[in-house]
Amino acid sequence: MLAAILALTDAACSGPGTMTSASGPGAHRISMLAVGMFAIAAFVFLVVICFLAYGLFHRRQDADDEAPNLEDHGGTRMVLLGGIAFPIVVLIVLFVITLVALQAQANEDTGTHVFTINVIAHRWWWEFQYPTQGIDTANEVHIPTGEPVLMEVTSTDVIHSFWVPRLQRKVDAIPGRTNEVTVQADTDGTYLGECSEFCGLQHAHMRFNVVAESSDAFNAWVADQQKAAPEPPPGEALQGQQVFLGSSCVYCHSITGTNASGTVGPNLTHVASRTMLASGTIPNTPDELAAWIENPQAIKPGTQMPASGLTPTQLRQLVAYLETLS
Ligand code: CUA
Repeated sequence: MLAAILALTDAACSGPGTMTSASGPGAHRISMLAVGMFAIAAFVFLVVICFLAYGLFHRRQDADDEAPNLEDHGGTRMVLLGGIAFPIVVLIVLFVITLVALQAQANEDTGTHVFTINVIAHRWWWEFQYPTQGIDTANEVHIPTGEPVLMEVTSTDVIHSFWVPRLQRKVDAIPGRTNEVTVQADTDGTYLGECSEFCGLQHAHMRFNVVAESSDAFNAWVADQQKAAPEPPPGEALQGQQVFLGSSCVYCHSITGTNASGTVGPNLTHVASRTMLASGTIPNTPDELAAWIENPQAIKPGTQMPASGLTPTQLRQLVAYLETLS
């Protein structure tokens, strides 16, 4: 029956956002711990139910007699064993398996890592800086599969929480403080991440992707991300660059290779290479990008980005330019 319950919970709890479909050492450990605790709790529950059923259906023959003498029925021993000794043993087992998991996690975080990524939470998006590689990207973080990467998590405004359910535990992103966690993926793939600490109006629209890939693919991605933005070809894209550099966009966004060096919003040097916009809110297509620039508040009410006030022509040119930033 226990196996059936576990199979049922596993079926109900699989998908991109569930830690029971673990794909990294950290999430495996948490998943094992959760299943172990569930199994122990289920066992205790079954034992209690059995005693309850016994009490209900196995009435004493002398039920009408005077108050029973507990000593005669082994009652004191029952209370000492079942009410004190048994819970102590169960709690000690739970305590020990938790300590073992915690220690394994601590060993992993203080162990060796291939490199470090600075994770900076903003309302409401994620910034990923690679100090070793000199990369600054947003809402999409690439890592080499099978390699431990150290994430140093902090925040610029309020408390957020960095969480990739299939890879690792949650880590609070706290202003003025850095929390470390090791992230490692067993297999290539895109893993959904999200903010798991309520941080305001758009808390639910604070998602990101962790892309785990072979070291060759990762190195190719790094090489692409390290390049400055290319000069746009003459025509709409070039006009779009002038729109961008002549508007208020530059106060919040950076594009390497231009004068735009704002740090309030995501770095746009390679914005076209990302699959999602606005922190996982909309897909990164030219139409969605245009709609976003035209009126971000309609898509993500409360976002720090104001409406652009551009004419339709300027908007088309700007999108043409941004689409060259792959
Ligand atoms: Cu950031 Cu919730």
